[in-house]
Amino acid sequence: MNRQTKTDILRAGIAAPSADNSQPWRFAWNGDELDLRIDASRSGHVSDTRYVLSDLAAGACLENMIIHAWSLGYVADLETFPSDDDELWVARVRWHRDPGCDQSEPLAGAIGQRHTDRGFPWRGPISTDTQARLDAQARHVRGQRLYWPQTPRERKAALKLIRQAETLRFRSPTLHAELFSSIRFAVGWHAACEEGLAPATLAVEPPIRPLFKLLRRPVVMTMFNWLGAASVLGWRSAWLPIRLSPGLCLLVIPSTARSDVLAGGRALQRVWLEATLAGLSVQPYAAAGVLGLGFVPVEPAFQRLLSDLGAALSELCAPGCGLVFLRIGHAQSAADGRSGRRTLASFGDFP
Ligand SMILES: Cc1cc2nc3c(=O)[nH]c(=O)nc-3n(C[C@H](O)[C@H](O)[C@H](O)COP(=O)(O)O)c2cc1C
Repeated sequence: MNRQTKTDILRAGIAAPSADNSQPWRFAWNGDELDLRIDASRSGHVSDTRYVLSDLAAGACLENMIIHAWSLGYVADLETFPSDDDELWVARVRWHRDPGCDQSEPLAGAIGQRHTDRGFPWRGPISTDTQARLDAQARHVRGQRLYWPQTPRERKAALKLIRQAETLRFRSPTLHAELFSSIRFAVGWHAACEEGLAPATLAVEPPIRPLFKLLRRPVVMTMFNWLGAASVLGWRSAWLPIRLSPGLCLLVIPSTARSDVLAGGRALQRVWLEATLAGLSVQPYAAAGVLGLGFVPVEPAFQRLLSDLGAALSELCAPGCGLVFLRIGHAQSAADGRSGRRTLASFGDFP
C-alpha cells in the first residue's frame, strides 16, 4: 500500500461523525496494518463513560475506511478489541489487495458529502423503498437494525423520550457543563472550527443567539431554569424539529458489549451514507439512548429519570438496546455550516 493510499484511507476515516465533533481517534500504521485507538484525551468523560460514544465514532470511522479502501481495491481483515489489557485499542486492520474486489461501492461517494444537518423543517415523505434501503444498510452489519416508530402512540413515546433527554442536558449541571464546553463560541456564529461544535452548525436562530451564548454560564442557566428554560430548549432542539420532520428511526444494537456498540457505529455510518446518497438530511439524537443505559454519572436527583428513560426505550424497541435516534428528511436548503476536522498529522505519528 503506498503512502497516498494510506493517507486517503485515513482521510475517509476522519470524515466520520463523532459526538460533539470530538474526533476521538488515534491511528498507527505498521506496514500495511493499521491500528485504530480511542484518543484518551478526547474520550471517557461524562456521557462517554464506558466509551459508548467513542466506540460509536470509532465504528463509523472504521466503516468509512473499509468502504473507501474497498473502492480502491483493498479488503480489510478486521480484528476488534485485540487486547484485553488495552481498552483504548479498538481495532487492528490488515489491508490486502483482492482480485475479486470489483471496487464498485456507491457509499464511498457519499463519505465527503455526509454531514449533520440540524436545520428544519424538512420535507417528506421518506418512501418505503428508501426506508428499506436504510434498513438493509443497518442489517449489513451483523446484529444491527433500525426501529421506525410507526403508530401515533409509538411516535409520541419516542418524541417524549428524546425531549426528556435533551431537556436534561440543560437541567443537569454536569450535562450542561459537558454540552457547552464542546461549543466553540470563540469562532463566532459564521466560521467553522477544526474540533468541537462551531456555533454555525447548531441552527440557533439569530435573535436567540446572544441568550443562548449567555446560557453557557452555569449561574445563568440555573436562573433561567427557574423560568422553565430547559423545557423550552428541549422542546426547540428536539420535539419541534422531529415533529416537523418526516422520518425518525432508532439504531438498535443487540447488547451493550463494546463490540456491539462498535458494530452499531459501523451500521450508523452505512445508514447515514445511504441516506446521503438518497439526498436526505440526518441529525442524530444520542442523549436518550446513552443516558438510558444508566452509565452516565449525573446528579442523584436525575438518576431516576435515567432509569425511566432506559425502561421506556426498551419497551419501545425490544429486543436489543435503542442507542441513537436519527431524524431524517429532505433538506430545503444546503446546511450553511459544516464541521471541520483537525489536521491528519494530529491523529498519530505517521512515517
Ligand atoms: C455517536 C454520535 C452521537 C451524536 N449525537 C448527536 C446529538 O445528540 N445531537 C446532534 O445534534 N448531533 C449529534 N451527533 C453529530 C455530531 O455532533 C457530528 O457528527 C459532529 O459534530 C461532526 O459533524 P459532521 O457530522 O457534520 O461531520 C452525534 C454523532 C455521533 C457519531
